[in-house]
Amino acid sequence: MTQHETTTSQAPSRDELFAALDNVTIAEARSFRRRLSKARAPKALREIGQDIQAAADRLALVDAAVPPLTYPDSLPVSARKDDIAAAIEKNQVVIIAGETGSGKTTQIPKICLDIGRGRRGLIGHTQPRRIAARTVAERIASELDQDIGESVGYAIRFDDQVSDTTAVKLMTDGILLAEMQRDRFLNKYDTIIIDEAHERSLNIDFLLGYLKRLLPKRPDLKVIITSATIDPESFAEHFAQPDGTPAPIIEVSGRTYPVEIRYRPLEFEAGGKLVDQDPLDGLTEAIEELMAEGDGDILCFFPGERDIRDAMETIEAKKWKNVEVAPLFGRLSNQEQHRVFSNHRGRRIVLSTNIAETSLTVPGIRYVVDTGTARISRYSTRTKVQRLPIEPISQASANQRSGRCGRVADGIAIRLYSEQDFQSRPEFTDPEILRTNLASVILQMVSLKLGDIEKFPFLQPPEFKAIRDGLNLLHELGALQDKHEKP
Ligand SMILES: Nc1ncnc2c1ncn2[C@@H]1O[C@H](COP(=O)(O)OP(=O)(O)OP(=O)(O)O)[C@@H](O)[C@H]1O
Ligand SMILES: [Mg+2]
Repeated sequence: MTQHETTTSQAPSRDELFAALDNVTIAEARSFRRRLSKARAPKALREIGQDIQAAADRLALVDAAVPPLTYPDSLPVSARKDDIAAAIEKNQVVIIAGETGSGKTTQIPKICLDIGRGRRGLIGHTQPRRIAARTVAERIASELDQDIGESVGYAIRFDDQVSDTTAVKLMTDGILLAEMQRDRFLNKYDTIIIDEAHERSLNIDFLLGYLKRLLPKRPDLKVIITSATIDPESFAEHFAQPDGTPAPIIEVSGRTYPVEIRYRPLEFEAGGKLVDQDPLDGLTEAIEELMAEGDGDILCFFPGERDIRDAMETIEAKKWKNVEVAPLFGRLSNQEQHRVFSNHRGRRIVLSTNIAETSLTVPGIRYVVDTGTARISRYSTRTKVQRLPIEPISQASANQRSGRCGRVADGIAIRLYSEQDFQSRPEFTDPEILRTNLASVILQMVSLKLGDIEKFPFLQPPEFKAIRDGLNLLHELGALQDKHEKP
């Protein structure tokens, strides 16, 4: 009997078909359930049965593409992988904190794959920046011995590398926020990893609030929050269970290679007075000191593009032998940013804004020079202006920066400021929501359909008065239609 003639055979029962939905993706199961609720005729049931089978076959391809997984022995996260797997299986939300380079970003998605996640929905893995999303995906794919877009893909602005077999999808947090507009339950995902949550950008805070609301409606969804070792308790409390028990925190201790920190402040004593050194002289001296240490690329951090251009000119004028200079900042195209990962001869000096501060491993980098400043967006309630002043970075940022070396071998980081200066800095940067004009936060929340700001479950809600002021301003401007505009 051919396939065709089976149409006369008995149709599957609705119960059988409902049971078969465990083998298709969460998103497809939802639409099959809708179809099944209306279907009665044997012909309709038979058709649905065939479609379910096709969907199950597609899911089997995702599963079959996942290779056996191995974990680099040297990484602290590898040593804790069984604990992490058990915690994820047992809890809806798990917080994982660990030092830079411990393996959070690259190993946790593999642990999720190992316990069967990423099949009925993607493992969505967010990064604060495009370059990190892409290169982390490339790294995990290569650890799986695959090309990008097989089991591991990524989606960033103007570049989507996700296929039918993709189980792990790296993306910027902005992309996930945009997807939420269309997929309100995030049915495309069975696991969401919010990486670098300590950065506490507005995007991250929006995601943390949205997920908190979504969790009871998606009991099958797992959420993993990873963070540097800064205040993981705040995330655990935010995601407390209804009975008040905080989400479990797994702290992974240790890092792979040591990084030696050297302080080379830009001021010195001359004739009993403190004299400021030209920052560019300080920079080139630091680079020369590091070049004398041995081979290896150097990553230097600056507040902005302008400073990068000045530094580039100064370095190029030195005509150092076998040295090339590569800039890295947010406004560059995906391709231009990716150039700092290309193979090269001789020594490369990468001049970057803080976009290279978190998540990245640029394999050749052995040394870091940290100028100690960044452009940090600030809103002044007095002048009512949002500005981007250059400010000293926090201790946490400085540690992230020095953490960019010491990843594939021992590293040295030179800070162009004093240890005393470092010690006097705030432990971490204020979350963006506390630095931003709330009128603009409210507008973003409207456009992201996040609902009423007063009811939104923020990790750290803004002050009531500031919210009032923001809402009033928007009403005066006629930017909101009614007082409680709800999307
Ligand atoms: N592209 C790469 N090339 C070579 N080694 C890499 C690469 N990416 C990661 N590694 C190795 O894996 C280690 C762990 O990297 P991973 O990004 O997972 O750490 P992490 O804990 O997320 O660090 P961070 O806090 O800095 O984001 C690195 O220190 C490095 O040894
Ligand atoms: Mg990381």
